[in-house]
Amino acid sequence: MCGIVGAVAKRNIVSILVNGLLRLEYRGYDSAGLVVVHDAKLERVRSAGRVAELGQKSANTYGELGIAHTRWATHGVPSERNAHPHMSRDLIAVVHNGIIENYEELRTELTAQGYEFTSDTDTEVIAHLIHSHYAQGSLLIATQMALSQLVGAYAIGVVAADNPHQLIAARKGSPLLLGVGVGEHFVASDMSALLQVTKNVVYLEEGDVVEVNLANYRIFDQLGNSVQRQVHVSELDNDSVELGEYQHYMQKEIHEQPQALANTLESVCNSQSLVPGIFGAEANTIFPQVENILILACGTSNHSGQVAKYWLEEIAGIPCNVEIASEYRYRTSVPNPKTLVVTISQSGETADTLAALIHAKSTGHAFTLAICNVPESAIIRQSKLRLLTRAGPEIGVASTKAFTTQLAALFLLTLVMAKLRGRLDAEREQQFLHELRHLPAAVQKVLALEPKIAEMAKHFANKHHALFLGRGMHFPIAAEGALKLKEISYIHAEAYPAGELKHGPLALVDADMPVVSVAPNDTLLEKLKSNLQEVKARGGELFVFADAETHIKESEGVHILQMPEHAGFLSPILHTIPLQLLAYYVALEKGTDVDKPRNLAKSVTVE
Ligand code: F6R
Repeated sequence: MCGIVGAVAKRNIVSILVNGLLRLEYRGYDSAGLVVVHDAKLERVRSAGRVAELGQKSANTYGELGIAHTRWATHGVPSERNAHPHMSRDLIAVVHNGIIENYEELRTELTAQGYEFTSDTDTEVIAHLIHSHYAQGSLLIATQMALSQLVGAYAIGVVAADNPHQLIAARKGSPLLLGVGVGEHFVASDMSALLQVTKNVVYLEEGDVVEVNLANYRIFDQLGNSVQRQVHVSELDNDSVELGEYQHYMQKEIHEQPQALANTLESVCNSQSLVPGIFGAEANTIFPQVENILILACGTSNHSGQVAKYWLEEIAGIPCNVEIASEYRYRTSVPNPKTLVVTISQSGETADTLAALIHAKSTGHAFTLAICNVPESAIIRQSKLRLLTRAGPEIGVASTKAFTTQLAALFLLTLVMAKLRGRLDAEREQQFLHELRHLPAAVQKVLALEPKIAEMAKHFANKHHALFLGRGMHFPIAAEGALKLKEISYIHAEAYPAGELKHGPLALVDADMPVVSVAPNDTLLEKLKSNLQEVKARGGELFVFADAETHIKESEGVHILQMPEHAGFLSPILHTIPLQLLAYYVALEKGTDVDKPRNLAKSVTVE
């Protein structure tokens, strides 16, 4: 989704803006632009291409105050005229993330007042609105007045040509951070854009407006009261967002999984027993009251929830439902106040998941837990309980290490719930803790299969469709494998629980339809083998991801990838890795933009 960077300093800030946008490229965008204030004029540079092109076009631009943006088109096609910043009468410039729902009505009113529109965006109304209130002379007040007329979601940055040292920023429904420097200040939609200049950051809250000057800043809450917000020191470091020795962020992030898992499990693996307190102090009183679990999430995060359902019901004996957040938020459900509502999100800013959580709370759900990778994100702040996955920044649009760390966190939830419900004796608890401690090493062994998977990927390069099969807790892993493949290689891929094959999809199977099967050595293996026979008999080409003891033989049209070990309940985590690698290498074969697949954004902060 769109990205924002802004700066006010006593030096040329153009390279800070451009480098910040480069850091935000991973979020997905189709055009970019910046504006600086120089000699009481707004100097705007925009490009319908990549940020690098914007960097070239602005190489000779100078300014000590400016705002910049990467746009992900919602209103109006991707083009230079629709790229931000948008300006009003050469006096006001605005960058905006989010969607203004009442923009048509505002546009009509502003046109009647004589404002001319030069883009098809909803954002341009913000620039003109601020301009229409600016006669009073205060950019802060003009912005606050304009914001009070907006319906929708926004994070904005605003500058005025006649105000050379001041930037106004605001957020409601879209994330925005304030970077605090020495005698200089910055704003950005994502911490990774700020690491080049500061680690001191204020997470602006819903409805906040901030007036940013060279030496200081003032924050006002949604009622207009001046408020103090804590300055945090970010734990991210610049290296964690560097590509290093890898070709793509996705590849890097796949390889970071042993460390990401070890970090996520650190507190537990260092202790001798599991306690509810790892989810927050209030878990001690909330968890014993919980009668069932409702998981809300989107995309890959939803798949981790689907795996957890198997764990929670089988190991902890607690009923669990998993819903797509965008569906749940709009349907009439029957709330039970004893339900634990678990939201899962890498970014913690996904609009649908956040709205589903707020909706759940509005229907009376008071027990809320967030499993999330970004501290201080909106979803974390809206939840009573939390467990942070410690995957580190995930830059590749296709989620990888966030997914496996979510699974690890959900496994911890399962064990804590099982223990509270008397279903986990001390011996079994120690056994599970032992398996968790071994997990990073087990994942490392799977990563060693990379060259074999790269070979296997060659079979997919000229295919247009693929089927993914799994059973039980590995069905969501098959679904995740299909999602990865379609996202980054653009091959149409669908996942089915293998038992469903003969109820319809078998009709699709022929030599042009590769069938990928997740085949761990579990109780459903024999049934899965029969399903695979059904595929083979129809001339389908099979790619089987089997465990060491699975005993499925390689033959004509049957390719086997033998996993190094069988991990019992943790097997879904191990089986995810080869599917991520498969999607990655198929995308390489096809030459697609692995880290920034077309039409997709990293954080989906609009509906
Ligand atoms: C797929 C992917 C998306 C996200 C989904 C939710 O690779 O990344 O499906 O999982 O948009 O995002 P988060 O987890 O940030 O809420």
